Amino acid sequence: MAGIYIHIPYCKKKCVYCDFYFKINTDDMHEMINCIIKELVRRKKYVKTSRINTIYFGGGTPSILTEKEIKKILSTIYDNYKVCEKPEITLEANPDDLNMKKIANFFNVGVNRLSIGVQSFNDDDLIFLNRNHSREDAISSIKTAQKIGFKNISADLMYGLPNQSLNDWEDNLNLLFDLNIQHLSAYMLTLEKKTKLFEYVKKNKVKMTDDTTVINQYYSLLNIAKKNNFVQYEISNFAKDNVFSKHNTSYWQNKLFLGIGPSAHSFNYESRRWNIASNKKYIEKLNTNNIYFEEEILTINQQYNEYVLTNLRTMWGININVIKSRFGSKFASHTIKMMQKWNEKKYIHESNENVVLTDKGSVFADKIISDLFFVENL
Ligand SMILES: C[S@@+](CC[C@H](N)C(=O)[O-])C[C@H]1O[C@@H](n2cnc3c(N)ncnc32)[C@H](O)[C@@H]1O
Ligand code: SF4
Repeated sequence: MAGIYIHIPYCKKKCVYCDFYFKINTDDMHEMINCIIKELVRRKKYVKTSRINTIYFGGGTPSILTEKEIKKILSTIYDNYKVCEKPEITLEANPDDLNMKKIANFFNVGVNRLSIGVQSFNDDDLIFLNRNHSREDAISSIKTAQKIGFKNISADLMYGLPNQSLNDWEDNLNLLFDLNIQHLSAYMLTLEKKTKLFEYVKKNKVKMTDDTTVINQYYSLLNIAKKNNFVQYEISNFAKDNVFSKHNTSYWQNKLFLGIGPSAHSFNYESRRWNIASNKKYIEKLNTNNIYFEEEILTINQQYNEYVLTNLRTMWGININVIKSRFGSKFASHTIKMMQKWNEKKYIHESNENVVLTDKGSVFADKIISDLFFVENL
């Protein structure tokens, strides 16, 4: 089984917190779609004999595509890859793009999962974040998608926003759960360099939320999600009735994935590839048959670190027997030794060779994961 990720590198405007790769100028969009199609045809050997069970349009803003463009990309995938019978086909969508006609068109060309970038239901937050939509747009996009027949809807929310109190965050969560969707991605705001937010904070125009409030927001996320029968299956991801994101789950479980488009990453167990993060150069190089990506062959240490990094963030955790058989006894002994202190603090829980983070431990996930990394010559 394998997944295909397609990066659509355009946005209508730049949100203050975001450092993903995109351009606002869409003059080369037609050429970009042609090059994405060329890359799909060129890269089919990358997945070898694997069947494609997930297709994910991410961005940037894939919801600016027309249904014809999506159809063209999907037909190229069907013509060149072995696709399983009912693939999960996700499209990341911004609420301001989602009117009734557009949602129906996405549905009709085969998109069966919508991931809607709500971020907050508070209009003041949305203005501050420089989002292109309002609270009402977000609510109506979800309700319309449900009316059209989408049975797998996810929403992105962010916490730790400047001036967002614990109450504000809980209001966002309660409103979202009342809308009765299947999946939530809740991200703690991270301050990225080269963003407007970074500039505001540096110039003391904006203050980031204090750690205690952010941790309380995280704990209330865990409580409210639980009350609404949502399972936390990855630190930032929650689902009802096991409607997990199959695509993202395969990243976290180290499955093969092919990334298409500028800045997209690919992984095939032994190596990682990342496409050039420039629309202009990507188009130029694809049209002249030149190399448009960099590649890194992963050492066994890096493969082990990748396994710990992705799997320990999920509810399935890491497994000592898997580590022994995939990477060798040296790595299994290292894991057992390094996890001892976290076990004593009850930050991790071990049973039958399987290790997962506890709720308390998930607050310190990054610290625990980097501690379990295997660094040569230490
Ligand atoms: C890169 S966006 C693409 C989806 C779509 N363009 C949108 O804005 O909804 C994917 C998600 O990443 C999250 N994100 C982006 N930058 C972030 C940051 N600095 N901190 C936390 N979450 C972030 C947002 O929740 C966003 O919905
Ligand atoms: S959060 Fe989404 S819409 Fe905003 S700049 Fe990033 S990719 Fe574009």
